[in-house]
Amino acid sequence: MSYEAIQFEKIPETRVGWITLNRPDRLNAINQQMRKELLGLLEKLREDDQVRVVVIQGAGEKAFSAGADLTEFGGGPPHRFAESGGFSSAPAEFPKPVIAAIDGYCLGGGMELALACDFRLVSKRSQLGQPEIHLGLIPGGGGTQRLARLVGVPRAKEMCMMGDRLTAEQAYEWGLVDHLYENEEFAEKVSEFAGELACRAPIAVRLAKQIIDEGCQAPLATALLLEREAFALLFTTEDMKEGMDAFLNKRQPQFKGK
Ligand code: COA
Repeated sequence: MSYEAIQFEKIPETRVGWITLNRPDRLNAINQQMRKELLGLLEKLREDDQVRVVVIQGAGEKAFSAGADLTEFGGGPPHRFAESGGFSSAPAEFPKPVIAAIDGYCLGGGMELALACDFRLVSKRSQLGQPEIHLGLIPGGGGTQRLARLVGVPRAKEMCMMGDRLTAEQAYEWGLVDHLYENEEFAEKVSEFAGELACRAPIAVRLAKQIIDEGCQAPLATALLLEREAFALLFTTEDMKEGMDAFLNKRQPQFKGK
């Protein structure tokens, strides 16, 4: 399958799928074509057993993504813009872990896409923000909501109302990103993180994602019940037996996702 606005590479040995937002001349701004291609690809990867972890990164030297393609903001009915905002939830709705590998600008819709990922790994030179206010807008793809849940209400308000860019260090201090790496070792560290995650028991990883995400929105007693049920369900998997056997025999487990 060939793509125009993204690239995809699957590395069978590591079971990591690499999606590249591929419009470097536009700082990987998200246009309709990119939305369509990314959604279609994630749909296909749901059932692809060769891919256990997905990494989203930006092409070129400068950006993860500078946000929605502003040349497409010219006009059209308001519902069109509401629909495009929904796109940013795709990584959160994808059942396997998704990592945002942020090396450079991560702004607007790019920030929202990263917020919907399970992990945000950043290089020190990166800058992050929600600059929509400078256009007379607010974020429309999760930027007000996921951000507030992640960094707290006052900081989310500052980011959305002031529109200033945070340095990678500041974003790390605020808990907006999970790991901060030196620029030169960024690619290697991301590969390492993704590779290790892909070695973990896939069904347990999926359930951890689901239970943490859904459970955080439910009352605690309901969430704890969900957790216990998922925990019990995992006792029926071959991977659980493999994990126990590997521990008892002092060897590394080889999980199959069964
Ligand atoms: N949509 C469309 N094109 C964009 C874009 C976007 N969101 N962000 C950058 N580009 C384009 C620029 O117009 C420029 O195109 P050109 O070479 O034809 O002039 C090219 O990408 C390079 O960007 P440039 O602005 O020259 O790079 P810079 O290093 O000087 O500045 C930014 C980088 C990210 C600070 C600046 O591009 C910017 O503020 N972009 C808009 C960010 C934004 O508001 N995003 C939220 C959208 S809701």
